[in-house]
Amino acid sequence: MSDPRTPHTADGHVPADQDLESRGSTRSQRPESQAFKDFITSGWAPRADLGITPLREVPFTAVRRARLSERLPGARLVIPAGPLKTRSNDTDYRFRPHSAFAHLTGLGTDQEPDAVLVLHPVGTGAGDPGADGVPSSHHAVLYVRPLAPRDTEEFYADSRYGEFWVGARPSLDDVETLTGIEARHIDELRDALAKDLGDGGVQLLVVTGSDEGVETLVEALRAETSTGTEAEVTDLTDTTERSPSPREDLASLRNLAGAPGTSSAPLTDASLVEAASELRLVKDELEVERMREAVARTIEGFEAVVRVLPKAVAHRRGERVVETTFDGHARLEGNAVGYETIAASGEHATTLHWITNDGELREGELLLLDAGVEVESLYTADVTRTLPVNGEFDEVQRRIYEAVLDAADAAFAVAVPGTKFRDVHAAAMEVIAARLEEWGLLPVPAAESLTPEGQQHRRWMVHGTSHHLGLDVHDCAQARRELYLDGVLEPGMVFTIEPGLYFKADDLAVPGEYRGIGVRIEDDVLVTEDGNENLSAALPRRPDDVEAWMASLRG
Ligand code: GLY
Ligand code: MN
Repeated sequence: MSDPRTPHTADGHVPADQDLESRGSTRSQRPESQAFKDFITSGWAPRADLGITPLREVPFTAVRRARLSERLPGARLVIPAGPLKTRSNDTDYRFRPHSAFAHLTGLGTDQEPDAVLVLHPVGTGAGDPGADGVPSSHHAVLYVRPLAPRDTEEFYADSRYGEFWVGARPSLDDVETLTGIEARHIDELRDALAKDLGDGGVQLLVVTGSDEGVETLVEALRAETSTGTEAEVTDLTDTTERSPSPREDLASLRNLAGAPGTSSAPLTDASLVEAASELRLVKDELEVERMREAVARTIEGFEAVVRVLPKAVAHRRGERVVETTFDGHARLEGNAVGYETIAASGEHATTLHWITNDGELREGELLLLDAGVEVESLYTADVTRTLPVNGEFDEVQRRIYEAVLDAADAAFAVAVPGTKFRDVHAAAMEVIAARLEEWGLLPVPAAESLTPEGQQHRRWMVHGTSHHLGLDVHDCAQARRELYLDGVLEPGMVFTIEPGLYFKADDLAVPGEYRGIGVRIEDDVLVTEDGNENLSAALPRRPDDVEAWMASLRG
């Protein structure tokens, strides 16, 4: 067996950040004596039963893998979890697997650095069962770095993987139990990927941007064979030759294999990245449940923040009190935050991604809190409320707030099956432009501003109104435009509705009373059979309700 400390990479290449010799060895005082080695590797009780049971995700991930299989028949699909990432020297960031890997395996928090899911092509109908037990045309294998025995150096000497350092990681059996997927040692990856490559053979496709070592290995294997990146495989959903109709969009999402068009465009890694991203556009039942969980934990986090507002006002870095209160809640009740918390007070709220959060909270100003809890399964909410620090909106704040709220309501009204995704934004923009016109801020009539040649209203809201949400805060980001922006809404889609208005302190195009005010209201919406459901509706959003809710929490 190879040195268990050596990370798997192509042909012995070890990335600098994984080279254990460079990870703090110059200050190592670990004894080298045989007596020490003999003693530390002996005298351990048998491992306790960790009580590992199958994840609830097991039947759902089988269906997700079968759908991916239908979309890319004949190709070997490589989906890495990704490696640990170095923060500095021998210190790593907390691990989070790539979202495509989490989606297809069900593995969440901290699971499992360096693992690689491979869908091996096995011929139509000969693969793993998917929906309703119907066999797919791939067999899934998870290649993992299993827990090392206690008589190895890894056990006590490896600060990255060793049980003494990071705890007991799962064995191959544990991984199989958890995921329902056959588990093999990572050392077998290279040979498994190399099998049947070559002219007329199997094509390798890898999810890029997750694990450089695996990508290098795939490149090396491609170079060793003459297959190149093309093969006699057809991307059944490739629609680059013509634009699909909205109905075809729907069909392609419902049945990825049954999509129209059989262009002979060659498959590339991008085909797999795209397919894995598009697979998440419509959430299954368990994903919706995970989203509800993430939203519920997030609402509790907002409540916790309102309770600490007096403390935040008293602190010179009140925004940090807000941030750490929310983030602490996320760590306690979930895995982490799904993205860096935006705790923006006063004028900071006009900086869309204000994450420095080092400002004061002043009575009479607004606090914009954009935050989401990511739960253990790695699904995240993404919610924004703009709250009066002293518990009551003043007249100008309320006027701006209500304009944003009306824009959000207009977006909700059209966020129903059959609407184009981009028209949700259009509905919100109509309200925003109308209000800006009413207030005399637009240099042209609202109707002109709303034309593609105009767009002056966007000076005060430069971001979009919606993005898909799920395992990633900006989920499905690699989906094709025709299925995302130009895609048609259907039941099971989850996205944000988050209009805003931001008047910078030095904006000479608005009256003084508007300057330094930023408002965003963001909710998470689930498209249902006959409309939509605001998943975050339990968090008050109408100004009177916000004030009453704040008063109730502050006692
Ligand atoms: N909540 C941050 C964003 O959507 O970009
Ligand atoms: Mn958002």
